[in-house]
Amino acid sequence: MTVTDAFAAPGPRIVPSVLPADFSRFGEACVELAKAGVDRLQFDVMDGRFVPNLTFGSDVIASLRSWVDLPFEAHLMIEEPDLLAPGFVKAGCELVIIHAEATRHLHRSLCVIRDAGGKAAVAINPATPVESVSNVIDLVDLVLVMTVNPGFGGQTYLTSMEPKIAQMRKLIDASGRSIDLEVDGGIGPSTIAGAAAAGANVFIAGSALFRDPLGLEHAVSDLRQRARAAGSETA
Ligand code: DX5
Repeated sequence: MTVTDAFAAPGPRIVPSVLPADFSRFGEACVELAKAGVDRLQFDVMDGRFVPNLTFGSDVIASLRSWVDLPFEAHLMIEEPDLLAPGFVKAGCELVIIHAEATRHLHRSLCVIRDAGGKAAVAINPATPVESVSNVIDLVDLVLVMTVNPGFGGQTYLTSMEPKIAQMRKLIDASGRSIDLEVDGGIGPSTIAGAAAAGANVFIAGSALFRDPLGLEHAVSDLRQRARAAGSETA
């Protein structure tokens, strides 16, 4: 699947967070996810400042680039993202997501990613309004509505975010641009339909994929079917 295809594939896209993966065999874990039929991989980058957790940097992602052909996206849960964002494009991430709350100058920060040759995306935490991204909607290829407070996997999905997802869908549709609406946090068999019905079309799943007793491939297929049944299509 080429990069363009992966960002414009028809129907709902299932994208794993690699956070629950076994980091001692990270490359093999990426291969297993690719074989399970995911659309791309999301790397949760945490700095211990923007969120109370610490993960990995662009060098780790660069070391994984050659293991799979899937597109990579980096979810930067870091302060001052301008400084490091270009490095994630260089490491092989086609898409780089920064948080609206993590930069004083969101418009400039998104331009830094685009100038580096990456697709730019913005994430908003549960308390951050949709309006915070309305003035930069023309700069992004994806908007991420967090359905948990970022920092850890395995948290409970915030159903209260569904009206916000619907509001974001309206903003995207009014823009006339093909922008993905991604959700992240607590996405699983019992929650994906609500997010899809509200307007999401890209679904980040971590623990729900890795804990499926029938395996990764079943988990991916099941989530995709549930999202499609709830009416999720491409943006
Ligand atoms: C939050 C992380 C998690 C992770 C997925 O900072 O971004 O949302 O990707 O976690 P699960 O799917 O286990 O809730």
